[in-house]
This record gives sequence, structure tokens and C-alpha cells, in this order.
Amino acid sequence: MKEFIIKTENLSFSYAKNRKDIKNLSLKVPKGSIYGFLGPNGSGKTTTIRLLLGLLKKNGGVIELFDKTIEKSRIENLGKIGALIENPSLYGNLNALENLKIAANYRGNISKERIEEVLEIVKLSYAKHKKVKAYSLGMKQRLGLAISLLSEPSLLILDEPTNGLDPKGIIEMRELIKELNQNHGTTIFISSHLLSEIEKTCTHVGIIREGEMLFQDTVNALQESQNDTLKIEIETNDVQKVKEVLSTQSLSFEEINDHTITTTVNHKKDITTVIDTIRNHQAEIYQIKIMNNLEELFLSLTEN
Ligand SMILES: Nc1ncnc2c1ncn2[C@@H]1O[C@H](COP(=O)(O)OP(=O)(O)O)[C@@H](O)[C@H]1O
Ligand SMILES: [Mg+2]
Repeated sequence: MKEFIIKTENLSFSYAKNRKDIKNLSLKVPKGSIYGFLGPNGSGKTTTIRLLLGLLKKNGGVIELFDKTIEKSRIENLGKIGALIENPSLYGNLNALENLKIAANYRGNISKERIEEVLEIVKLSYAKHKKVKAYSLGMKQRLGLAISLLSEPSLLILDEPTNGLDPKGIIEMRELIKELNQNHGTTIFISSHLLSEIEKTCTHVGIIREGEMLFQDTVNALQESQNDTLKIEIETNDVQKVKEVLSTQSLSFEEINDHTITTTVNHKKDITTVIDTIRNHQAEIYQIKIMNNLEELFLSLTEN
């Protein structure tokens, strides 16, 4: 049987009475995975993470972490989970070592060696005596990550850890995440609003929009699904002509009204062929719309 480190069933949450911000969310995060939690801004990623960490109280559903419901395991989970939500709170006037010591005291039971170790892991040993206010944003993020690693967590939850970083910082963070997963076996749950980021880093992916899960599988399966059949809507001045063209290409179609028709193609690249053929037959195309939910969503996930 597959082991899930995070599992939710029909998780729901509302910030106010007349709205639903998280809708029946069922997450499955396999042990040892790098799970990308992908969704546009405002889709509910941070809210979900706060729910997982017990920082918000769910309205319904089940949250299981390490195979135990959150109600039963809150305290024992604290040591097993490291989290980095938005910008880490750091003392700018202190150096990295001092920041880590304060965080270690707060957590208790953290050795001096572990502090040096986490500095090594996030590659900040060289700058450990430097005041944090002189750090770049990327260095601050890595120090935040170091703090979350103090207790040797087996699950790391990172909320948009590359947000605001420059390209170099993004690559460093990405490498670090992979390293932690491979060398330390850490399961990593990472949120992002960028598809490319998730494709580069993750083994698994869950895509949400408006608090609802639209797709959840391996990143490979996601990439394969992008080759699946696509339903497209064509707006034209000559529906009759378009119908003929589609027929000659053995494509089925449905006439929506006198200037709109839908058809289904097997691959994304077939769209170009269809457009070219229609144009060659002197029909005009005013608009092409991809009807597949996920495809439309992808467009919004490729913009910054
Ligand atoms: N503290 C809050 N009070 C009320 N609404 C909130 C609060 N935080 C977030 N929201 C709303 O909840 C929805 C999800 O937000 P969020 O979880 O921050 O999305 P994401 O992290 O994916 O950008 C948005 O509509 C946002 O405006
Ligand atoms: Mg967020």
C-alpha cells in the first residue's frame, strides 16, 4: 500500500459565512515525493498550508499527517514538520548563527552541531557571522529554510519559496529542495503559481483553482495529459465551410450557432493544421478557444 505523509479528505474552509475558500480538497502526498501544489494567486494555497499546520481551523473534512488525524497528532507532529510560509521572520541586526541559536532555543533539544549542519545544507556557512540585514533575499530565504530544518523534519512545507528571488536565487532554492529530498529523504510539499517551476522540481502535482482540486497525479502524468484530445471552439464567418473542412479531416464537430462550431483534435499541434486548412479554404477565423479546463488554466499558470 502506498504511504501518504499528507492526506486530506473533503477538506473545507471559509473565511466568512457566505463564501467557501477551500472546497472538498482531497490531497494525497506520497512519502518521499516532492509534491507541487500549483494554483493561480488567490486560489487557496496558503490557506491550505495554514490548515495543514493547524494555524487555521477547518470547517469540515479530514486532515491526516503521518497517518494520524491532525487532532490526535498536533504536538508530536511539530518536530516532524518544517515549514516556511511567506517571508521568514528574522532578526536583521543579528547574524545567521545568532538567529539559528534563538530558533534552536525556542524549539529546544537542538545541538550546536545541528546548527552548523543546517548552515552547511543551505550553503550559508561562509556568511554565518554576517548580519542578516546585509543578506540578499535569496540568502534570507535559505536561512529561513535552515531554521525549519533544525529539528530534522521528515516533511517540509514550503509556501512559494522562490517568490521574489532573482534567477540565481531561484536555481539555488530549486537545487536545495532536490538535494534535501534525495540526500535526506525529506518529503517536500511546495506551493507555486508557476507551472514551469513545478515541472522543474517536483515528482507529483496537485492543481487547484478557487479552492478546488482540478488535477492530482505525477508530473509525468500531467505532461502526458497535455497530449490528450482537446476540445476547441472556432468562431468563423462561414460555419458551412468549416464543417466541410473538418469533415475532410475526419474530425467530428458540433454546430453551436451560425458562427460558432466546436471540434475535438488529438494533439495540440493539430490545432495549427486545422486553422491552416480552414484559412486555405477562404473561411475566416475570428477566434479559437480551448475548451479543456486544464489547458485554459495552464495559460494563467505560465504568466508571472
Ligand atoms: N485572512 C484572510 N481573510 C479573508 N480572506 C482571506 C484571508 N487570506 C486569504 N483570503 C482569501 O482566500 C482566498 C485564498 O487565498 P490564499 O490562500 O492566500 O491564496 P494563494 O496562497 O493561493 O494565493 C483568496 O480569495 C484570498 O483573498
Ligand atoms: Mg499564498
